[in-house]
Amino acid sequence: MLSNNTEKNEIAPVSIPINLNDYQKLARAKLPKMVYDYFAGAAEDEFTHQRNQSEYQDWLLNYRVLTGVAQRNPGVNLLGKHYSYPFAVAPMAFHQLAHPAGECGVAQAAAKMRIPFTVSTMSNASLEEIAMSSTGDKWFQLYVFKDRGLTKSIVQRAEAAGYQMFQVTVDVPVLGRRERDMRNAFTLPEGLTIKNFEDNSTASHFVGEHGKVGQAVYTLCHFDAGLNWKDIEWLCQLTSLPVLVKGIINAEDAFLALNHGAAGVVVSNHGGRQLDSVPSTIEVLPEICDRLAGQGAVLIDGGIRRGTDIIKALALGADFVQIGRPMLWGLALEGKSGVEKVMQILIDELDTAMALMGIERIDQLNRSMIVSRRGRGK
Ligand SMILES: Cc1cc2nc3c(=O)[nH]c(=O)nc-3n(C[C@H](O)[C@H](O)[C@H](O)COP(=O)(O)O)c2cc1C
Repeated sequence: MLSNNTEKNEIAPVSIPINLNDYQKLARAKLPKMVYDYFAGAAEDEFTHQRNQSEYQDWLLNYRVLTGVAQRNPGVNLLGKHYSYPFAVAPMAFHQLAHPAGECGVAQAAAKMRIPFTVSTMSNASLEEIAMSSTGDKWFQLYVFKDRGLTKSIVQRAEAAGYQMFQVTVDVPVLGRRERDMRNAFTLPEGLTIKNFEDNSTASHFVGEHGKVGQAVYTLCHFDAGLNWKDIEWLCQLTSLPVLVKGIINAEDAFLALNHGAAGVVVSNHGGRQLDSVPSTIEVLPEICDRLAGQGAVLIDGGIRRGTDIIKALALGADFVQIGRPMLWGLALEGKSGVEKVMQILIDELDTAMALMGIERIDQLNRSMIVSRRGRGK
């Protein structure tokens, strides 16, 4: 009998988050507008940012049954090393805007969950502090500065601190026009700095005013818009660690990256924060994988919010994926433990998706297990 139950069947507001989108809603309610907009926002009309997520719905999974899936293992190999799960934290600037635990909190959460953490050059804690805060796998995202001496010293510091790989970001010759940040005159609040350069003049030029973003001025002053393939060769020769080129959406560029010494690429459009109106990363992934034909590692980021999204990227040929903004939502809500929870949700969703796909190992995924909706006469 239902009559005693007077509760209306309304959609309840999120109180306990059970997926990554819930985390975003709760973080939005908690964070100051300027910070939420900086994290959530993207360039101009945010068309590419939305497409990064929505295009995952254009791919449908083709599951198999009765394959026996009692012993599931989501582990993968990447560049000769084994990882427990096929996803990492994407490099993102300024974690302390989300929570005082900042990058060190994320590093500790990632270590506990056995997820690699890609640390941004633009961190609020120094790369050494982050390295020392946990024993987990850490990768380093590098911006190439006009000052090559400074760039070289960052590379050497990251190597000495124990980072295992470089991702050199090449899609920021200038900063994309992020209109939310322009309206908010985004700037780092008092007390937060770009810690890797505290003693250096690069720490200046980061003041926002209406219509002018501190970060854009900083980028113009310090990042090298003249960066070209010769610089990738220079960087690859400078370090014995693998170098991935991050910010690739063109198959020919992916090929050039390997030709100039890179160990692989990160298929990325910077979460839609740079050039708007470019394709989503999942759209260009198959072409890039085909062009590289198994030579070099292929990572992808942008819009991955579900275990099934991870499955789709891997089935289309990626070796590993990276997750950006949702990690900041977890951090904003509950510090280190919020990041752990976001990671656990992805691990659980991935496990469920593996079982329901009919696979026990990630290397069983292939293109026969995914079809484009377009191919089905959408
Ligand atoms: C707040 C924020 C800061 C970012 N900072 C950097 C950065 O410092 N270096 C970099 O290479 N990419 C940076 N990115 C891009 C991410 O590495 C990644 O490409 C993107 O966020 C992935 O998309 P997703 O957030 O939809 O998962 C940043 C992204 C966000 C949202």
